[in-house]
Amino acid sequence: MQIHSSIADLRAALKNRGHVVFVPTMGNLHAGHISLMEQARAHGDTVVASIFVNRLQFGPNEDFDKYPRTFQADCDKLSAAGVDVLFAPTEADLYPEPQEYVVEPPAIQNILDGEFRPGHFRGVATVVLKLFNCVQPQAAVFGKKDYQQLMVIRNMTRQLALPIDIIGGETVRADDGLALSSRNGYLSPAERAEAPRLYHLLNEIRDAFRAGEGDTVKLEKAAISALDAAGWKTDYVAVRQQSNLAAPTDAKAPLVVLAASRLGTTRLIDNIEI
Ligand code: PAF
Repeated sequence: MQIHSSIADLRAALKNRGHVVFVPTMGNLHAGHISLMEQARAHGDTVVASIFVNRLQFGPNEDFDKYPRTFQADCDKLSAAGVDVLFAPTEADLYPEPQEYVVEPPAIQNILDGEFRPGHFRGVATVVLKLFNCVQPQAAVFGKKDYQQLMVIRNMTRQLALPIDIIGGETVRADDGLALSSRNGYLSPAERAEAPRLYHLLNEIRDAFRAGEGDTVKLEKAAISALDAAGWKTDYVAVRQQSNLAAPTDAKAPLVVLAASRLGTTRLIDNIEI
């Protein structure tokens, strides 16, 4: 696997590479990331991954400084997964001057996660567009675990007419249902044992909905109460339309249940499509 930190070196390495599929990450890779790499491999000739912990998408009180950086272990995993090229820029490579031109997503950036993480999706969209410009892939893979992020990137790509296919990768879960995430490493053993409750409650909502319970607000409130009772602090549990993440208005629209809640100091997000 080739590793490049400068944009110029990366571009030179990717000349005449055929169909390039890109998987951007912030490192601290787990089986969920590796499954995105495998999906990328199925879609193209050259798989390019990136590792960059993007300061722009972290709020002032978030975990940018303590975000786990495990570069050597990540390289070993990417190499074993058959990734061809790793782009691992430093902050000076990617942001050599203050990033004043940014991508400002529309109202979707202010709902759900965006309500609790102001500026987060601006930071994500800005770095992803910049990474797209560095790599110039024909396709890119993003996990469905970050469902709202996937939607923001899809919409940006479509509206700015970027010639890139956006592929959504399925969430990978531990045996007890907890969605794999770099932030799971922050959980204490007791919190780790409690953490699958979030996924199980999302399943309960889906099952109740399928059994005919149409009052989605009632289902959301019941899940929040169950989380409260188990000591979680919940930002949202929300049943939304998959197409635009708006509250359901069309009885036939495919839905997704999304949640963000804190166990101790660790904020977990998850979702399931209905
Ligand atoms: O999902 C992530 O890891 C990040 O938000 C991304 C897409 C790599 C942008 O920094």
